[in-house]
Formats: sequence, C-alpha cells, structure tokens
Amino acid sequence: MASITIRNIDEKAKQALRERAARNGNSMEEQARLLLDAAAQNDKMDEAQFVSTGYEAGSRSTAIIDPYYPASGKRILMIISGGIAAYKSLDLIRRLKERGVSVRVIMTKAATEFITPLLVGALSHDKVFCDLFSREDEQDVGHIALAREADLIVVAPATANLMAKMAGGLADDLASAVLLAADVPLLLAPAMNPAMWNNPATVRNVETLANDGVHFIGPETGEMAERGESGRGRLSEPMEIVAAIGQLLDDAHKPLKGLRAILTAGPTHEPIDPVRYIANRSSGKQGYAIASALARAGAQVKLISGPVDLPRPPGVERVMVQTAEEMFQAVENALPADIAVMVAAVADWRTIASAEEKIKKKPGTKTAMTLKLTQNPDILKSLGHHKKRPTLVIGFAAETQDLIKHAKAKLKRKGADWILANDVSHETGVMGGDQNTIKLLSNDNTRTNVEEWPTMAKGNVATKLVDKIIVHFETQTVNV
Ligand code: CTP
Repeated sequence: MASITIRNIDEKAKQALRERAARNGNSMEEQARLLLDAAAQNDKMDEAQFVSTGYEAGSRSTAIIDPYYPASGKRILMIISGGIAAYKSLDLIRRLKERGVSVRVIMTKAATEFITPLLVGALSHDKVFCDLFSREDEQDVGHIALAREADLIVVAPATANLMAKMAGGLADDLASAVLLAADVPLLLAPAMNPAMWNNPATVRNVETLANDGVHFIGPETGEMAERGESGRGRLSEPMEIVAAIGQLLDDAHKPLKGLRAILTAGPTHEPIDPVRYIANRSSGKQGYAIASALARAGAQVKLISGPVDLPRPPGVERVMVQTAEEMFQAVENALPADIAVMVAAVADWRTIASAEEKIKKKPGTKTAMTLKLTQNPDILKSLGHHKKRPTLVIGFAAETQDLIKHAKAKLKRKGADWILANDVSHETGVMGGDQNTIKLLSNDNTRTNVEEWPTMAKGNVATKLVDKIIVHFETQTVNV
C-alpha cells in the first residue's frame, strides 16, 4: 500500500492544501484524505476523466482536474429548464462531478423534451427529479429537503419562463417550488433568444431577481441556434459556470466572513410640509457600491438608505428611511457591528415642526418665508463615541473648500478611524456622478496620514476601500 508524505508535495500544492485545510478546519492529512476520496469517487464514474498530477489514464482524456476547486465536496442542486441549451447542462454535470462535486438534478417538463432524465441520471449518478406530485419522490426526499440539502442551486439553462415564475413567486412545478423554498445561494445561467432577453418583462424580472440577491452568470453574446439570429442570449460556457459556482462557494475569497457592517447611504429628506422637504444632491451611488463590495467580501451588511432610486445590492440587507432621525434610529437598531461606513449626506438641519397641511402663500404679500430649523443628530459622531463602538468607524467628508483642513477636523471631532475626504464642488460632478476623487485620512498615534487616490469610478473606490478594510482586519488578527 502506498503512503503519501505531505512534506514531499510541491510547495504550491502544499500551500493550496494548507489553505483548504484551514478553511475546512481539517488537518492537512485529513484534507488530503478527503481530496483523495473525492478523486476515488470520480474514478468510479469515469476513470479516464480524473487525471491526477501528470498522470493521464488511457487515451480518452486530456483533462487535468483542479483538485483545489473550492466547491469540491459540496452539494449542488442543478435545475435544468427547457431550452435548446439544455444539452450543455450535460457537460456542466460532467465537469462538476470531475471536481468532486455532488450533483443532484431537477428537470422541468420542458427540459425533458430536449434531453432525457435517463441520460442526466447516468451522468449525475443520482435519481433525477421531475415531478412535484410524485408520491415516490416525496417519500424519498421531498421537495423542501431538495431545496435545503444543497449548498447552492444552479439553474442552467434558466429560461425566461422559469425566471418569470421565480420573480413572481410561483410554485406550480417541482423546479419553481424548490426555488421558492430555497434559502441557499441561487445562481442562474439564462439562455434564450435575444428578443426574449431584451423584452421589458424579462428585464424587469431579472432586476427583481437581482434585487432579491439571486446571482447571474451570462447570458453571452453570440450566434443563436436559430439560423441567422445573433445577440445576447447564449448560455455561458460550462467552464464559466463551473468557475462562478466555485467563486460563490469559495470561503477563502470571503475574507470579511463573520464580520458585521453597517452603512448609511444617500440623502435624507426632512419634511417642511406634506409636499416639500429639505434635501441634497446625494445619489447614494458611492454608499451602495461600498455595501455591495463589503457583501462580496463576505461581510454581513446592513445598509441604511435614504430615499434613492437604486436597487438593493445582492446579499445586502437594506432598511429604507426618509429622515436623519429615522436613519439615526435604524443605525442604533443595527448595532453591534464590526465595521461602520457612514456615507450618507445627512441633512444637518430639520424644521422644528413640519406643517400638517401644505403651507400656503399669503395672497398679495411678498414677505420672505422663514423656516425655523434645528440640528439633526450626528450619526457618525455618535458611533465614534458609542459604548458599542464598531471596531472600525469610517466617515466621509464632503467639502467644497479647504478639503484636508476640514477633513482632519472631522476625523477628530467625530471620533472616526478613517475619513474619506472628497471635493463635492459643483464642477467636480461628484454629487450624483459616477466618479470620485478621494483623500483618505487616518490617525497614526501622533499624526494624521493622508493617502491620495486617483480619480476613479465609485465602484473602484468601493473595492479599494474594502481592500484596505480587509488588510486592516487581517493585521489586527495577526497582532492579537
Ligand atoms: N454625518 C452623519 N450625521 C450627520 C451629518 C454627517 O453621520 N448628521 C456623517 C456623514 O455621513 C459623513 C460625515 O458625517 O460620513 C461628514 O459629513 P459631512 O456632510 O461632510 O459633514 P458635516 O458633519 O455635515 O459637517 P459640515 O456640514 O459642517 O461640513
């Protein structure tokens, strides 16, 4: 019987093994044994398809399988809905199985018109489920268990019809019922004719699903099966879908997993009377981009948003508010947290009392109107000095003059760790625009550091900030 010594594995593989073992809480030996088990399972399926380092079994296969695929050992529920691209799902099953993923399949009735459950079952090595009202299947597994037992559900291909059902919460067949009952990540790989993809109804449904936190891959642009047709609507290649599944299940790329973040974003509206309010030009784009980047990095994100017309970023819990006081209260309710990023352009003042009825002009007079204002709570300042203060408190400084001077003062006054200062003068177009130019101020015991970032898209500002947050928490952990 052969034995393997971890010491003899090459450095790169050893490092990957070490990371994977740490992620799963295993010793390296235990992890190596699990990988070999997974490989052996694969061997049973098709010896020629699993090729370990440098070894090629027979002449049928040239595939080199990545033994460090993040989803190996995980359970995927795959839903095949009816479209010409259904045949590609066979390759997807094969490639997932090669990587040690357990694949269970549900087919819609339409899908069985394109490929047979027998063929699918032969590849997945499992029973294929098709019928919501099958007594045998319900006794066997049950549709709720099908939804819950998976680590991820992938729908490939996802037709316009199935997406419409999902967006509307319908559950009139096994696939849609399982999708409605699922509380695991959902990945859709749509495939349809470009006209169907571009139809306003499909556009609406995709947006609804994305807002509900559903992940998408594709569709791609290219030639369609129908002769002479081309455009966006092709199913992504199986290997692209394999990669997307890996990414969604890869804990190593979720460095902020286990950390809670609170964000504020957008303007606040302070009512004057039932139809008028005090507001500012904030679009919420920067705050939403940061919320989304934090969620992608694995943080559990609560976004307290003022009135903006932006979709909820996937994987983010959102609370919509109108006024600064409501925002303050929502932030209090969201505590405790590890990270706070206060991006909202909170209105500094509100009227002492907003009028119950619409304020009318006095006929025949041109006297100036006076509003009595009072100050709103300073949310960032309250967090910076809170008894439940988050570990990392980050604010913005929106200035139109003396940027650094004012930002330094805010860093100190508000008790923040970092301030992202930006010039919001009208000519910069930052308020409401898509770009931002940031100077990051942080306190280093005795002095304030200023880091200048080049002008970049708000999405890139978000990624850069989140990268810094990741480094901050990594170094903290090391120091403990
Ligand atoms: N902020 C807050 N609550 C407020 C006002 C501001 O949480 N009532 C936060 C903002 O979200 C931002 C930071 O404080 O992170 C600075 O906001 P800014 O509008 O630049 O400054 P102000 O505190 O309003 O001060 P000023 O208007 O004098 O510049």
